[in-house]
Amino acid sequence: MSQKSFVVALDGPAAAGKGTIGRLIAQEFGFAHLDTGGLYRAVAARMLAGDLDPNDAKVAEAEAKALDAGDLARANLRDEDVGRAASVVAAIPGVRAALLAYQRSFAARPPADARGAVLDGRDIGTVVCPDAPVKIFVTASAEERARRRVAELKAKGEEVDAATILADIKARDERDTQRADAPLKKAADAHLLDTTELAIPAAFAKAKAIIAQRFKT
Ligand code: CDP
Repeated sequence: MSQKSFVVALDGPAAAGKGTIGRLIAQEFGFAHLDTGGLYRAVAARMLAGDLDPNDAKVAEAEAKALDAGDLARANLRDEDVGRAASVVAAIPGVRAALLAYQRSFAARPPADARGAVLDGRDIGTVVCPDAPVKIFVTASAEERARRRVAELKAKGEEVDAATILADIKARDERDTQRADAPLKKAADAHLLDTTELAIPAAFAKAKAIIAQRFKT
């Protein structure tokens, strides 16, 4: 019988550094990594490509159920308009329900027989994997997160207006924390990792220490 997969739940608001920290954790411990935001972004990208309204709950749920591997590889997944639409479809309970089984099975049976899985998102520690042995809530001030997102977009050669990005981040925080279904919030048993003043290597070192206390190689 295969051993139980070790799950790390990494939650937090937009651009707090979860994605990068998640990839580094996966590398360090030989875990599989799932960027669950990518699933919501893929639903949003499908809808934008088909000129569909992301607020239409019925259509959004059908699109979430029809998601395929090609959608997860769309080139525009990280674009700002896709991120914005993602946080709109993510508030629709039918969309969340459609994506839940995939996330749970990834956590329980990670690909390539990995010994564990790290999932990053908004509701991993609260809803998707409430029994995860390690939960980390990664956050940073809205201003610092906006600064990082501007740098990320500029590095890709996109023209960006810093004030618009900050407003976008704040609007997304508001939608993510205020929705009724699986809102963004720190699980009671999650470690708080505030990266406002921490560069990635320092933030990763803290996450690694938290995991190493529970996961013995
Ligand atoms: O990369 P960034 O932090 O900007 O966002 P993301 O993690 O790619 O997620 C995009 C959107 O999907 C978020 O604004 C959330 O509304 C939604 N999401 C969610 O509701 N639940 C998750 N587990 C992951 C993302």
